[in-house]
Amino acid sequence: MRDVLVVLVAAGSGTRLGAGIPKALVNLAGKPLFEHALQSILAVPNLFQVVIAVPADHHQDFAPVAARYSSADVNVVLVAGGETRQQSIANALAVAQSGHKITLVHDAARAMASTALFERVGSAVRESGAGVLPVLPVVDTIKLAQAELIIDTVDRTHLRIAQTPQGFPSVELAAAYAQAAKLPEVEYTDDSSLYSASGRQVISVIGEAKAFKITTQPDLAAAEQHFQSTLRTGIGTDVHRFAADGRKPLILAGIEWPNEVALEGHSDGDAVAHAVVDALLAAAGLGDIGGNFGVDRPEYAGASGEVFIRGTLELLASNGWSVQNVSVQLIGNRPKVAPMREAAQARMTALVGAPVTIGATTTDGLGFLGNSEGVAAVATALISGSAK
Ligand code: CTP
Ligand code: MG
Repeated sequence: MRDVLVVLVAAGSGTRLGAGIPKALVNLAGKPLFEHALQSILAVPNLFQVVIAVPADHHQDFAPVAARYSSADVNVVLVAGGETRQQSIANALAVAQSGHKITLVHDAARAMASTALFERVGSAVRESGAGVLPVLPVVDTIKLAQAELIIDTVDRTHLRIAQTPQGFPSVELAAAYAQAAKLPEVEYTDDSSLYSASGRQVISVIGEAKAFKITTQPDLAAAEQHFQSTLRTGIGTDVHRFAADGRKPLILAGIEWPNEVALEGHSDGDAVAHAVVDALLAAAGLGDIGGNFGVDRPEYAGASGEVFIRGTLELLASNGWSVQNVSVQLIGNRPKVAPMREAAQARMTALVGAPVTIGATTTDGLGFLGNSEGVAAVATALISGSAK
């Protein structure tokens, strides 16, 4: 039975973050903050509807994302927020469809709260019939001060850090909001305090460290760090033969090598670019160049390595990965890399958006590379991202 309404408050301006755009729209690991929250919310069991309070003048920036996640089962709707957080929630409650039994209110600024936390809070509301607040213990020693003067040490045993999502029986929360509206001069910064003030009971469940509120730039950097914590490496190789007719120029590492013989290939034969693509795809666990781009497909005839690199970077980004660096080694007698190294590295670095280094070696005259029949490239890539 779908009976859980989630109100996501995203109508703040993010003054303390100072990003120049509303905080909920600020990018974190490739997605706006509120989209992270929305993704966790959409996996909550028995979800009834999601209402997002957004800054009135930024409706159009939120609408496409909301539409993308909205479905016949769970409708994601936007409402203009108010002057205060409390008013934003009142506006959201006013437009929610009727028929829900539990309301969970969540700050978009707590972008990394997990679905499990929403479930924990929702279940506790269902079992207790009370308001439910996720909390963390206070670990620091807390002081009472008057300006610089320290007055006392506060006993922290009974102190808790309040988080969201906070959960309530829907009818009771609506009644508490109606009651609070009668005293507009009193402003509540969270729902559990508004709920308690109306004489209703609030209990706590254990919160979650990663549900911390992103308020300042260091908070955003800490959140970003969380997503960059997984490192993966990948390897890729490619071999192309030199054109039998000896035509020039060679295209390798995304640039022209004017005095070197071209490589054959269905595409432009850029063995460096292709090895880099395979290394990146391997690192991300996304298969290989053939599987993703069908290098024998007609649309890729003569395609430059740049096309495959761009496509690969898009795939990586949409899977939450970013490139740290790439290292390439060319194997063969020709081309001579030294005079072109700077230009080749600069071009590949620009294409990949992370440092690419290029080295070279020979095979002591052995095999097809020692016979100058072709060139081989071996690449390794290091990528970082969120472990999914
Ligand atoms: N919020 C809201 N409507 C408001 C004020 C705040 O919906 N009028 C939301 C914010 O979008 C945020 C949450 O309430 O998700 C907690 O607020 P806060 O962290 O203070 O965010 P901002 O108000 O945006 O930030 P700041 O106070 O730095 O301007
Ligand atoms: Mg605020």
